[in-house]
Amino acid sequence: MSNQVYLQQFKDQLSESITAGVFVKISMGNYQGNEKELKNIYVRLVEIKRTAMLSFTYRYKTRDIIKNFPITEGITLMGNFISNDFRIATLFTTEKEVILEHGKKQLIALREKKVKTAVQPTLAHNKEKKRIIVPAGKTYLQELRISDADGNVFKNAQDKYRQINQYIEILSSLMRELPGEVNNVVDMGSGKGYLTFALYDYLHHVLNQNAKITGLEYREDLVALCNRIAESSGFDKLDFVQGTIADYALESIDLLIALHACDTATDDAIYKGILANAGLIVVAPCCHKQIRREMEKNKSKNEISFLTKYGIFMERQAEMVTDGIRALIMEYFGYKTKVFEFISDAHTPKNVLVVGVKTSGSDTFAKDGDARKAEIKQKILESKAYFGIGYHHLERLFGLDKLY
Ligand SMILES: C[S@@+](CC[C@H](N)C(=O)[O-])C[C@H]1O[C@@H](n2cnc3c(N)ncnc32)[C@H](O)[C@@H]1O
Repeated sequence: MSNQVYLQQFKDQLSESITAGVFVKISMGNYQGNEKELKNIYVRLVEIKRTAMLSFTYRYKTRDIIKNFPITEGITLMGNFISNDFRIATLFTTEKEVILEHGKKQLIALREKKVKTAVQPTLAHNKEKKRIIVPAGKTYLQELRISDADGNVFKNAQDKYRQINQYIEILSSLMRELPGEVNNVVDMGSGKGYLTFALYDYLHHVLNQNAKITGLEYREDLVALCNRIAESSGFDKLDFVQGTIADYALESIDLLIALHACDTATDDAIYKGILANAGLIVVAPCCHKQIRREMEKNKSKNEISFLTKYGIFMERQAEMVTDGIRALIMEYFGYKTKVFEFISDAHTPKNVLVVGVKTSGSDTFAKDGDARKAEIKQKILESKAYFGIGYHHLERLFGLDKLY
């Protein structure tokens, strides 16, 4: 049989296995194409937003990249890869393995092996991941319209539910960096309290800790709603209070959270957290208007006017500069900082977390404090000049701008 016939047979078996629901995965190796450092591609079936897709893992020398494609497009793409770029491809189904190999002198061989033990199709592996916050029996999830009374998550609340769990996963690993248990948590700008309730649930019912949590929120209607839900859930150490972050009367705080508190409200929250000597500060900033306005003022003069003349680049620069200076100020006050994306931006573009973990005096990071502080002040000064910024709100709250 000719090469073309073998190739076609392989492609037919591939698409038939998917249609028949017996496809497990395909692996393609011995790459001969032009992409630098690409070694293999593995393809499996996944379910994204209840739609079956083909997920390609491009395995490079030092990293993996995953791309998902609709089934028809994915099959065509695999067909092209097998014909042109990879010298060996193995199709794994629940019953057999089919191997296509490009030999020397352009000859193609097609072999089949029966599998010894039956394997499940990949989609079956891809069932809903076990989540930390289990929805069954959770009054707050019902009242927030995330799940029904039987614990089924509503279709239109799947993203929110995933997001809540992801926050809790991140917070739980960050909390491990604290020296002891978390006793006092304040969630500033708590809104409808999705995370506040979930964190309470996690601390009290998964970790069996007895933390007091306060949700601080400007909107009275949300405060009333959340207090009502806290009561009906029996969460007696959870309170929602009305007020602004700037006016919040300081109490002891171990963990301060402010997710999507708008513009300078994030600075107010960091300020309160640092003053309270909070062990952990976790903020997801949004609407970086204050620094953007500063940068707009000097847009034509500063060193990066070739970038900031474009609205989108201005926006991104303002975000990075605002949060970068926030992180520097946290470091100035003895916090170790991390900045990372916490959720795919398919869900929300407001997806950067700025985290500060208070260091102890013996921490190597805190050693040589004065020299480090001088260095940070100099860095803030230079950055402001470079980006054409008169002041940064957090810097002003601490009066740091008067110290240069
Ligand atoms: C975008 S919502 C986010 C809610 C919640 N943190 C979340 O991530 O689901 C921001 C909330 O912060 C509140 N907020 C904004 N600025 C505030 C301030 N300065 N003081 C108190 N609440 C504030 C708003 O009323 C709103 O409910």
